[in-house]
Amino acid sequence: MTSNHCPPTPRVSLNSHLFQSANTPDELRHLINDISRAAKYISYAIQTSEGGLAGGSNSSGDDQLELDVLSNTIFEQHLNESNLVCCYSSEEQKEMVELSDDAKYSVVFDPLDGSSLVDANFAIGSIVGIYEGREIIGRKPSEQVAALYVLYGPRTILIYSTGNGVHEFLLNDVGEFILFRENIGIADKAKNYSAGNLRALSDNPKYDEVFHDWLKRELTLRYSGCMVADVHHIFAKGQGIFSNVGGSKYPDGKLRLVYECGPLSFLAENAGGVSLDGNIRIMDKEITDLHQRTQIIIGSKNEVEKVCKQLKETSE
Ligand code: AHG
Ligand code: MN
Ligand code: MN
Repeated sequence: MTSNHCPPTPRVSLNSHLFQSANTPDELRHLINDISRAAKYISYAIQTSEGGLAGGSNSSGDDQLELDVLSNTIFEQHLNESNLVCCYSSEEQKEMVELSDDAKYSVVFDPLDGSSLVDANFAIGSIVGIYEGREIIGRKPSEQVAALYVLYGPRTILIYSTGNGVHEFLLNDVGEFILFRENIGIADKAKNYSAGNLRALSDNPKYDEVFHDWLKRELTLRYSGCMVADVHHIFAKGQGIFSNVGGSKYPDGKLRLVYECGPLSFLAENAGGVSLDGNIRIMDKEITDLHQRTQIIIGSKNEVEKVCKQLKETSE
């Protein structure tokens, strides 16, 4: 039996990984560390709060849980304290928020993704993208200098990339993120699929064809309703596809370019995966509105390209 008193060796903390990894400038390293501290408070809040409604709604019209509001506040506090962020934009707030005037970075985030699943005790997450400079409108997700997500499941994990591979860390019992897997890759061929916004099948025959093709080819379905968890499944298994395609209720799909699809596409591409909106790379989409939605098909290259081709083909 191993002793419970000593950390296993060798262990690599998030900070030392950021430090050693070639292209992480000091300020960016400090900022990612500060964001990871926010995630620890959110992780604790999820375990200890009762998770009721806050009584308001965000700019997309979604009901806000107390935990949505609390997570947003925790992010704001940590970004403010870092002194490295000139402004931030959150899924939970209509406008950009100004912080330190001369600071180098802008941060975009979905503080709690999948929050409607809190009462079901499903996994939920936080998603973050980091840009240099103060403008977000007119930029593209390819201009992010780093992206990360945190998944609050049976274990709390953090996945980040600064454009130099995709790396996974596990939150240990003393509150430190320790390296779990380095240089995660996504293979070209998918065996699993995660199909979002299936309500669109009733009025989008092409998506209906894609879905029935997955059924016919006997791919394995893995869908939880939390994008972070569903996309993380692809990183964890090293293959798979996640889709959120439009129909009459959500013509551009349900997910947001800035807070959800942009950062996760940065990570997927850095792992060798592909992320398209049906036509072009999510990374190449111009941000025209902070809360704009976009279709997304993300994951294993061959399957993503096949699905986008199917979505474009004229139905007979
Ligand atoms: P949020 O909780 O931030 O509003 O995001 C929920 C999103 C995303 O996590 C998930 O993929 C999608 O909503 C699920 O949508 P369906 O309810 O259509 O499955
Ligand atoms: Mn979300
Ligand atoms: Mn959210």
